[in-house]
Amino acid sequence: MKRLENKIALVTGAAGGIGAATARSMAQEGARVVIADISDQAGEVVARDLRQGGADAFFVHLDITREDDWTAAIETTLSRHGGLDTLVNNAGLYLGKSLEDAVLSEWYKICAVNLTGVVLGTKIALPALRERARTSPQGSSIVNMSSIAGIKGSSVDPLYSMTKGGVTMFTKATAIEFGRKGYRIRVNSVHPDAVQTDMTARYQRDKVGKDDPAALESYRQAIAASLPIQRLATPEDVAAAVVFLASDQAGFMTGSSLVVDGGATA
Ligand SMILES: NC(=O)c1ccc[n+]([C@@H]2O[C@H](COP(=O)([O-])OP(=O)(O)OC[C@H]3O[C@@H](n4cnc5c(N)ncnc54)[C@H](O)[C@@H]3O)[C@@H](O)[C@H]2O)c1
Repeated sequence: MKRLENKIALVTGAAGGIGAATARSMAQEGARVVIADISDQAGEVVARDLRQGGADAFFVHLDITREDDWTAAIETTLSRHGGLDTLVNNAGLYLGKSLEDAVLSEWYKICAVNLTGVVLGTKIALPALRERARTSPQGSSIVNMSSIAGIKGSSVDPLYSMTKGGVTMFTKATAIEFGRKGYRIRVNSVHPDAVQTDMTARYQRDKVGKDDPAALESYRQAIAASLPIQRLATPEDVAAAVVFLASDQAGFMTGSSLVVDGGATA
């Protein structure tokens, strides 16, 4: 039996990067998947590809900073799939700026996505997750995408680090709250580093200059060489950790912080 057979999952930021890889990996493990993102065109493509591969998947427009978008996304999930077992709070923003360079409007924006988005998603999905948890063997689960910057201070982006530290602690606090209340909802966080996605590519291009592929490549090689594992991560490396935490194999894990960082924090 596949590891997520009979499970229904909603993944935010699933139009690209780690979110899209997570949606694909979850579908491969038998889950019915809701692709949620602000990027409609790319999100529809991910959902269509999954359907063509035989998965039960659809796209829903969701700006995670908007309460009414969340309400509509959960209602659509319930009416199309009949429930929700797993929420993956994956969508997030990175500034790549020092405290001195960042401006207040950027702080409000990163807070809205990285913090408010996770709080709203957790709160609004909660009744649906509780309902499915009543009858599933190991309950429901929430997986929050933090970062190694949510465990140790980021050397380049203190604002991002602050939001991801918030995600780490919110994960632990809600794991305790839901556990003690008997909701049977596990909450865990994942902490990646150095994953090749649009997010990191944007930052790398800003750092070394857009028109210098050789400089970009040597910058990436330097990052890889700085990690004990000696390579960059793929989105699939991170997706594998999410699949595990969403599965019943992780039935005794709640409030944990799972690093997928090639040894960066070791
Ligand atoms: N890439 C890395 O190295 C890395 C490392 C640590 C943590 N992370 C975290 O992993 C998560 C995914 O990162 P990624 O690298 O795949 O990023 P990405 O920029 O490649 O993809 C992010 C996705 O989120 C969507 N999104 C942005 N704002 C949104 C909003 N308000 N509502 C809904 N969707 C929104 C985007 O449209 C995009 O599809 C983020 O939380 C990020 O902080 C990434």
